Order: sequence, then C-alpha cells, then structure tokens
Amino acid sequence: MKKRVIIDTDPGLDDALAILFALGCGRFEVLGLTTVGGNIGLDRTTLNAGGLLAVMERGDIPVIRGSDVPLTREQQDIIAIVHGADGLKGITLPEPLAPASDGASAWIASTLAVAEPGSIDILALGPLTNIAHLVTEHPEVVGLIGEIIVMGGTLNEPGNSGPNSEFNFATDPEAVSVVLGSGAKVTVVPLDVTRKVRAQLDYVEALPDTPHGTLAREVLGQYMQDGRQSRALHDPCVMLLALEPGIFRLEKLALDVDLGEPPDAGRLLLDKRGSLVNVALCVDAERALALLRTGFV
Ligand code: RIB
Ligand code: CA
Repeated sequence: MKKRVIIDTDPGLDDALAILFALGCGRFEVLGLTTVGGNIGLDRTTLNAGGLLAVMERGDIPVIRGSDVPLTREQQDIIAIVHGADGLKGITLPEPLAPASDGASAWIASTLAVAEPGSIDILALGPLTNIAHLVTEHPEVVGLIGEIIVMGGTLNEPGNSGPNSEFNFATDPEAVSVVLGSGAKVTVVPLDVTRKVRAQLDYVEALPDTPHGTLAREVLGQYMQDGRQSRALHDPCVMLLALEPGIFRLEKLALDVDLGEPPDAGRLLLDKRGSLVNVALCVDAERALALLRTGFV
C-alpha cells in the first residue's frame, strides 16, 4: 500500500534529493508538489519542482504554486550560498512537462476533501506558509489530514538561520505557530536529527548509475561543493520518517514558537501551554542512509 502524500517544497538541493527519493523508492503515491518561496524565490522553486518531475518522467504529477512570501513578515534576503542563485547550484534540469497551476492551499484542500479522511499526509520541506494558508482558509479540511511531517526547527542543535533558529521556521514563524496549533497530527523533524543523517563522499559515489541515481550524485556533489566532507540531509529525513518512523525516536512535546524579531524569530520553545506535537529527537543514521539508498536503485 503506497503512502499517499502531498509534498510542499522549496527546491533546493536537499528538497531535490527528497523528491527524487520519494519518486524513486516506489513506496509513495505523490499526489502533487506544492511550491513555496524559501531557498530561492517561488518562480525558481516551481521551475525546479517541474524539472525534477521531468527527470523522473512524471508529467502526471501536478505542480501547484503557493506563496512566495511569508504570511505577514518581510521576506528574508535569499542567501544563495547553499543552494545557489537558481536553487540547484547550477544543475540543469529538463523543462517541466506541464505548466504549474496556482493556488496551492486551495488545491490541497480540494484534494483532501475528496479523499478518504486521514489517507493523505503532507510532507513539508520548506517554510510553512502554504500549510498555514490551508489551515486558516480551509479549516474544514484540517481534520481530513493524516499527518503533517515537517522539516524544521531545532531544539538542542545550534541554528542555521539564527543561533537558535532554523531556516524554514525562521522564514515564517507565524506560519509555524498556525500549523503547530492547527489540531492536525504534526511531526517535527528538527536539525537535532537531520544533522545526524549525513551523506559522506563514499556514500555519494556508491549511488547507482540509474538516471535519478546519477542526478542524486550530482545534487549531493553540488550540495558538498564547498569542500565539506559531508552534508546534512535535512529534507530527505521527512520521507524516511514517513516510511519508517521506527528509525527515529519520537517524543510528544508541548511547543511554542518565538514570534519576535531575528535572530530568535522562529525558535522552538518548550512551553507546557504550547501545542502537543511529535518531535524526532534521535535517529539511527545508518538505517536512515540505507533506506535512502533504496530510492536510487
Ligand atoms: O534548515 C534546512 C531547511 O532549510 C531545508 O528544508 C532546506 O531545504 C532549507 O529549506
Ligand atoms: Ca527545503
């Protein structure tokens, strides 16, 4: 039984790896990619999403544009260091096989509305703006969501946006607050675990020569281009947890989010008055990497 998922994404090199895995592993029914501004602007994340589907010859999967900017606050300056000015550090993808449509949150709502309640999970790989729009503009479908699995935040690991804040959550803290408080089943995959799932050079070299295995090698190569010996596979951890949560240790925590100014905007706060969400705190990194590899054979 394939897991039916909607992937909300800002590709982005690690998003790209996560999407290639989801399409290659044969264990997901990907209903659509909804795009959000984050690593790079919405036009580019949308083009990259379509290009990844073209590589996998999946023109049947729709791409639906969402929000380019956060719910309320000013968009952060795009820091193209990690993902490059095109979001994929110069990796050229084929043109999308079909044009993207508009209205991500409305599309998610209409997809949920006709599905078996609880049968669709949302895998959120970027800032949560689209999902927050879904919750506020289509409250009637929130109870139909299976689970929202989110890459974002940090608890005990140093941040990658501010000292204590992670990029996805720092980009749109208000959206995080809406989603955490939505009443849906939410599972957060923070830097505390994603930084432990690291692709080393030998792992990358050993990826199979399938078309998407080759692209994955290129993506990882670019992701490690600045001479690092390994890179954290943030977004792929969401897919891995969706398939095999037993690789992770989850705890239910009462969380709130800092809605103040940078550098702590988006910081996750343990607060007994907060929303109860599942948080991945530990991971068997070896099992995670072994599972990831199965997506590229
Ligand atoms: O902090 C890591 C997250 O920010 C990942 O989703 C990466 O793609 C960037 O969006
Ligand atoms: Ca991302």
